[in-house]
Amino acid sequence: MTWPSVKGTIILKAGSPNEEDSALQYAAEILKSGGIVAFPTETVYGLGANALDAEAVEGIFKVKMRPFDNPLIVHVTGMEQAEELVRFSPQEAAVLAGHFWPGPLTLIFPKKELVPDITTAGLSSVAVRVPAHPLALKLISRAGIPLAAPSANLSGRPSPTTADHVLEDMAGRIDAVLDGGACSVGVESTVLSLLSGPPALLRPGGVTLEMLEAVLQKKILDLTAGRGEDFKGVPPSPGMKYRHYAPRAPLYLVEGEGASQKQQLVALSESFTLQGRRLGLIIFEESEGVFPAPVVKVLSSRKDPRLAAERLFAVLRSMDSLEVEVIVAEGLEEKEMGRAVMNRLRKAATKVIRVE
Ligand code: TXA
Ligand code: MG
Repeated sequence: MTWPSVKGTIILKAGSPNEEDSALQYAAEILKSGGIVAFPTETVYGLGANALDAEAVEGIFKVKMRPFDNPLIVHVTGMEQAEELVRFSPQEAAVLAGHFWPGPLTLIFPKKELVPDITTAGLSSVAVRVPAHPLALKLISRAGIPLAAPSANLSGRPSPTTADHVLEDMAGRIDAVLDGGACSVGVESTVLSLLSGPPALLRPGGVTLEMLEAVLQKKILDLTAGRGEDFKGVPPSPGMKYRHYAPRAPLYLVEGEGASQKQQLVALSESFTLQGRRLGLIIFEESEGVFPAPVVKVLSSRKDPRLAAERLFAVLRSMDSLEVEVIVAEGLEEKEMGRAVMNRLRKAATKVIRVE
């Protein structure tokens, strides 16, 4: 089969079963020989390489321009394969994996020697997850190796939720992208540490804090609450200290609720418009019509943060293609999936404005 390509990056479409089989075979061969293939997961597209091959993993850091002190998540097909990589797996991990794997939950374990230091950025722990996307699972088993995969964006840019987003950042930098359509969750996996003390949330994501607490029947330490990029001291997860997900234009996030939040949205929008800057608004359905900006993107109803999560990164990317000069975004209540949405918006924001 001949595949289309952009700047030398091959696009492996997996439409029909026949096409899917050749696409997976092609992608698996590249991965086995140390190459880099972007692939779909249920959360976002990942930039995959053999997690046990230090050279291949170094390639990921380079093409993504990712700081070498930010460790990668290793993707496996199940607990059995996870156990090959980890020294010890607490009882809680078995319970959580039983409930949420395959799915958007990443667990941190003490690592075995076998996992190269570069994959974990020198940490003695390793992050592991079992993705729920059928193509991701098939690719990992076809390649027969665990896949290290960060989100397939250039470092600092919004994570990709379609193969086109991947190509925007990665065409010419990676061997291939496996195209499995749009991702359904839309924000990355939840990262949970079980290393010591109570379970600790390091990144809110597709599995909510409420879901984790219900299954574990205990409180989880939320190390992400209310935090954007302003981490003081040593962060529990290296990824916490970096600005992320950012469109090119500066983004002003207005947090809070009700009438005062709306007033602040309008006041900011008016002042940017008076300055003659092309404004992009990111709001919820309940605020439609609040201000007549040239670009208005509605994420979802405030009552449906799952849909907001699914659309968020595509909306952030669209601000670039629509050439807005400044962005004003409306914040959401921080519970359930609203936690992950707010975490990503804060990290994308140049400035966070909180109204009471
Ligand atoms: O949904 C996802 O998790 C996606 C898809 C592709 O699976 N992947 C993803 O990877 O979001 P990445 O590299 O963009 O984010 C990984 C996060 C970073 O914040 C990193 O610091 C943290 O996980 N992390 C990785 N290993 C860790 C470790 N051993 N201890 C603490 N944090 C870790
Ligand atoms: Mg990322």
